[in-house]
This record gives sequence, C-alpha cells and structure tokens, in this order.
Amino acid sequence: MSINPVGLQGIDFIEFVAPEPERLDRLFRAFGFSRTLHHPARRIDLYEQGEIRLLLNRGSGSFAAGFSALHGPSISSMGWKVHDGLKAQEAAVSRGARARTEGDLFFRDGRPVPAVYGIGESLIYLVDGANPQEKWERMGFVPHPEAVRVASKGFTLLDHLTNNVEKGTMGRWSSFYKDVFGFTEVRYFDIRGAKTGLTSYALRSPCGTFCIPINEADEKKSQINEYLDEYKGPGVQHLAFLTTDILSSLKALDGLGIEMLDMDDDYYREAYQRVPQVTEDREEIRRRNVLIDGDEEGYLLQIFTRNLIGPIFIEIIQRKNHLSFGEGNFSALFRSIERDQAKRGVFDEPRG
Ligand SMILES: [Fe+2]
Repeated sequence: MSINPVGLQGIDFIEFVAPEPERLDRLFRAFGFSRTLHHPARRIDLYEQGEIRLLLNRGSGSFAAGFSALHGPSISSMGWKVHDGLKAQEAAVSRGARARTEGDLFFRDGRPVPAVYGIGESLIYLVDGANPQEKWERMGFVPHPEAVRVASKGFTLLDHLTNNVEKGTMGRWSSFYKDVFGFTEVRYFDIRGAKTGLTSYALRSPCGTFCIPINEADEKKSQINEYLDEYKGPGVQHLAFLTTDILSSLKALDGLGIEMLDMDDDYYREAYQRVPQVTEDREEIRRRNVLIDGDEEGYLLQIFTRNLIGPIFIEIIQRKNHLSFGEGNFSALFRSIERDQAKRGVFDEPRG
C-alpha cells in the first residue's frame, strides 16, 4: 500500500467566504497578506505571504456563496498540492472520497479543477503545477487590478489546521484522512477545562508538511459544540500560521485590532519550570500572553486570537525543534477560552 496514495505535497491555499467580504479583506491585509491576483469572472481575490495563500471568494451564485448563506463567514474550500491533480482525484475516489459535482475553480478551457468533498461538505481541490504563476494563470487568475502590497508580518507556512466535528464522528473523520490520503496518527489526548472537556486526535499528512488535529466534545456548552452550533456543522476551528519570530510578528500586529486570548496569572509561574530553555524576552512573552511548551529537545511559543471569522480563530506559532501542538498549554488555554465563553454568557442559566 502506498504511503502517499494521492501524491500529496502540502497545502496550497485556503478559500474563505463571508457575507461581509470587506471585513476579511481588511483582516487578511492586517495579518500581512498582500492582495496579488484576481479572477475576474468568478470574483475571487488571492492574498499571499510566505508560502501561505488565502482566497476570498466574492462571487454571487457560486458554491462559496452557498456556503456563506449556510455557514456565515467560513472556509468553503482548500487546495492541496499534488503531483498530478486528475490522478490524485481518481486515487482519492477509489479510496472512498466523493468527486466534486460543484465548485468555483475551473481551468481556462472549462474543465473543473479536480476536487473531492472534505470536512462539512467543503471542497479539497487537488492542484498540480510546479510553477505558481502558471498554475494560477491556468485557472483564470490575472494580476489584481487593485493589488495591495503590505509588509509581511513574518508568517511563512500554514503549520496545521484543526477540525471540530460532532461527537461520535471523530473516528469517521480520522479514517477519511487516513484511508483516502494516507495521513498517520501522531497524537491523541483528552483535555479538561474547569467546566468542559474535549478529545483530540492529531494526524500528520503523508508529505510531512502539515497536520490536522480533530476535536470532539461531550458537553453541550463546550467550545467545540458552541462552534458546531454557530458554524452549523463541522469545519475548520483554527489555522496556525508559522513564524520564525513570534514576538516580532506580534509587534507588527500591534494596533490593528486583533485581539488575543489572555492567560491566567498562575500560568507564567509554572511555565518556565516546565520549559526553562526559552531564550526569547520573558517579560515580552508574559506581557503579550504568549504560551510556552516543550521538552528536553526543544520548545514552541504560541498565541491564539479570539474568534475572528465566525467561530474560526488564528493561532500564531514559532517552533524550535519541537513538533507538538502545545499540549502542556491545553488546560490553561481551555480555562482562557472558558473565561471568554463566560464573558459571552455561555454558561449563564436560562431565566424562566
Ligand atoms: Fe493549534
């Protein structure tokens, strides 16, 4: 059995849609993404920074518009880089995926860009082509007539994307990624906050370039089920942008209105006992609510925004020879999310 049955090579792009696309346009630029390409017929804009590409679909009557009507601000598709798109689609379908019957990306000669359905009926496009310029031209993109170049905030890669799924379906979704694409399990954990908990199962792509953790939860008021209610189904909970210097990236985001989750006072008392080898400015780490995790070999620094795109949030992560997802931070992070939920009245008893 092939260990990489569809020839996966990494994430190419994430496509967003929203009832108010201007908000996302501002958000992407605030995060340091330049608006570079445009699809005139389908009204899709492409933003890029490092190796991360985001699409914003403004088309009406499109697959994405249907997604927006159902889910609100959401991720309607993503593109995965493969060696050969059509062969990848055939391989994925032969292994149990469903080929696209709708979608917004087509080649200029009218053929649909190969794709299969993924989480929550979003699409996974299987995109080939080594030359990025040619690749986008082939799909009808042109230089953006109102291109906006903004300074990079230091984000280089999409490190991972996490899915929230309904209780009881985590096994089915992990089988989907494993059986169709050859993902492998890297971690499994149960996490408890003060009031709620979740179970998480992390998978690594066969190309080794990205991970997909999957979360499910029991309690009705858990953050996972709150997400499922708001998003109206399973989907991407957060995207993690990799930076080589998290403190510089955060400084570059100052004053742009991007709110981060705060940490409880106890957190930094024990954080450096767990991870004593951190070389970055500890005062800055604390002041900015950056989280720390690691082991003898290395460590990571990470921070989480509040919900930014519907219930979807962004993580910023810096790694130093450490590949975990910050498990050492999960309970502190969980408490922080519960404080945020409590502020929003999620745990209030209904009044009769
Ligand atoms: Fe994460």
